[in-house]
Amino acid sequence: MRLIIKDNYDNASLWVAKYIAKKINDFAPTPDKPFVLGLPTGSTPLGVYKELIKMYKNGEVSFSNVVTFNMDEYVGLSPEHPQSYHYFMWDNFFNHIDIKKENTHILNGLAENIEEECENYEKAIKEIGGIHLFLGGIGEDGHIAFNEPFSSLSSRTRQKTLTTDTIKVNSRFFDNDISQVPTTALTVGVATIMDAKEVIIMATGAKKAHAVYMGIEQPMSHKWTISALQAHRHGIIVCDEPATAELETETVKYFKDIEK
Ligand code: PGA
Repeated sequence: MRLIIKDNYDNASLWVAKYIAKKINDFAPTPDKPFVLGLPTGSTPLGVYKELIKMYKNGEVSFSNVVTFNMDEYVGLSPEHPQSYHYFMWDNFFNHIDIKKENTHILNGLAENIEEECENYEKAIKEIGGIHLFLGGIGEDGHIAFNEPFSSLSSRTRQKTLTTDTIKVNSRFFDNDISQVPTTALTVGVATIMDAKEVIIMATGAKKAHAVYMGIEQPMSHKWTISALQAHRHGIIVCDEPATAELETETVKYFKDIEK
């Protein structure tokens, strides 16, 4: 595992954006050989999306041969709902870059047959040859995507019940009214994320410090699904300084030293 520590959120975002752009450019994608990117929603990736849009506008990266798969979507929200992850992705990222609509994939939270929707999502990822790079955030309880504590570490795309804690945290996007927050979501599984060739998890702010500690310094456990990254061959956690607050000094020293 690599741990990248930047002094603040903006520099952490910039590092991730540059990393993604370089990966896409080095891959030199074509319509027959697209670069496949897994993407998150939430407040954490907003800085990365802003930087990637800037780079696209400066001609430094193109998304015309990039295929995306989003991590999750609420059940019951239409793509037009301002709090749906469809809306989020178009509003904050896709509308501002040259991605082709047919190359974007987001789970359909209104699907009549949820099981089939989830199976087809896994199939689509497999058919394209897998995800090259999966970017994710992390919840205060260590969840990645909506893989809440005690999700199976070999889980696949499925419907999950959101914990009361997650509903409370996310109610900030729903006028602080928890009754408006959907209670279930469709989400890729821990194993879906771990299948990607590379995984970058961003954790910024002091609120994520405990999850970062549990994910990096404690043994792998389904209680903190982020910890599954320990078994990934190319896992990177990108933090700002406050998110490293609970790590041992030696741990921080080690990771800073190898990144010199
Ligand atoms: P956040 O959410 O980026 O809004 O903090 C992350 C998550 O819950 O996975």
